[in-house]
Amino acid sequence: MQKSDLLKNLQEIVGNERISTSTAELYCYSCDASQIRGMPDFVLRPASTEQVSKIVRLANENEIPVTPRGAGTGLAGGAVPVEGGIVLDMSSMNRIMEMDLDNLQVTIEPGIVQEKLNEALEPYGFFFPPDPGSSAMCTLGGLIANNGSGMRSVKYGTTRNYVLGLEIVLADGTVINTGSKTSKSVAGYSLTDLFVGSEGTLGVITKATLKVRALPKERSVLLASFDNPELAGKAVVKVLSSGIVPSACEILDRNIIEAINTYDPHVGLPKAGAIIMFEVDGTENSVREGIEMIKDVCSSLATSIRAASDKTERDEIWAARRLVGAAVSRLDPLRTRVYVGEDIGVPLKELPGMLHKVGEISKEFNLPIMTYGHIGDGNLHTGMCIDVLDETDWDKLNKAADKIHRTAISIGGTVTAEHGVGSARAEYMGLELGKGLDVMILIKNALDPKGILNPGKMGV
Ligand code: LAC
Ligand code: ZN
Repeated sequence: MQKSDLLKNLQEIVGNERISTSTAELYCYSCDASQIRGMPDFVLRPASTEQVSKIVRLANENEIPVTPRGAGTGLAGGAVPVEGGIVLDMSSMNRIMEMDLDNLQVTIEPGIVQEKLNEALEPYGFFFPPDPGSSAMCTLGGLIANNGSGMRSVKYGTTRNYVLGLEIVLADGTVINTGSKTSKSVAGYSLTDLFVGSEGTLGVITKATLKVRALPKERSVLLASFDNPELAGKAVVKVLSSGIVPSACEILDRNIIEAINTYDPHVGLPKAGAIIMFEVDGTENSVREGIEMIKDVCSSLATSIRAASDKTERDEIWAARRLVGAAVSRLDPLRTRVYVGEDIGVPLKELPGMLHKVGEISKEFNLPIMTYGHIGDGNLHTGMCIDVLDETDWDKLNKAADKIHRTAISIGGTVTAEHGVGSARAEYMGLELGKGLDVMILIKNALDPKGILNPGKMGV
């Protein structure tokens, strides 16, 4: 079909105001928060499942790539149309369809922003726990498609643990529903789990039923300082294996502490080789007990331990943690953060060794690395900044990232614990998944034989 005929057909489905074709608008959809780029031919903002189904059916008949997109906060190119075609901007489908709180669940459209759902739940005393750094911007559809997680997964698990069911538009336009409204069901293959984390390569999420939890009554934060990241890693292993379940367990290394303190001097994080932020939530008693236990367990390894004195200080510490993405470039104003090799996950007991190795890689390539992340999950963000106009810096960055990825895999870890594979990490899938990747390709070919759904992603 000619491009002009295709445009006419698409206009019939969504109407003129829901299509962008101008270069300026298309350019805005050619990137996410990673370094991956790709220009779409059309951007569509569907308003209903029916429209999504018609668009995908038409695209399938004409073998046009379709890349679903939420807020574009992804860090691996997942929402970038690397093979052109249609970007499906799902942000117009942003309603909460049902607050079924007696059943501890809500049904939502994919375009709603994570924080907006939590704002709606809070007055009723509930929350949706998965809490990535981008909560104020990212959509739940993107979070589900990437199985995102963030700060609270050490206690509450990842997005996968909260998805009861999905409405999905398949590659041929068929609409299916997976899962159920019950908290347990073993009826059939777990299709919900298949689509969660499939990054738009198997279908388009148009609705989701999510579990929610009661808000904890109390929470408290502790900052433990260490001489170096390895000691901090040891303390985390000790805390988690002593039966304490913190609601957050985050590492900030020396470089990140400096960057945050430069970005916002008011925060005044303690200067140390590394800090671990522990948060405990629950009842007043359980929080007090948890904090005391963490203090005890860390005391032989930490140089100092400071508890947030009140809610204001606790909120300031969290705000500082959320600043990391913005603050990293402050370490050296001439360098820019590039999201490559920044999301490894390793088994818990490998944490001290991995942190040591990151230090060695930083020295080997003469590249400052700012390590932060959800250390309680073994998830480290090894942030790197370069002069993006300098080819040798890019070379160093790619080599350092490659070494970080391969080291993580060699010790039983993963190249991406929460940001997703996208295009950025597709080349590592064979190494990490082995023959499992062949099975993924079989599934992809069965569900999307023409390969129209988010092509160029996940190694499939
Ligand atoms: C964070 C994002 C980068 O943890 O995952 O801030
Ligand atoms: Zn993170």
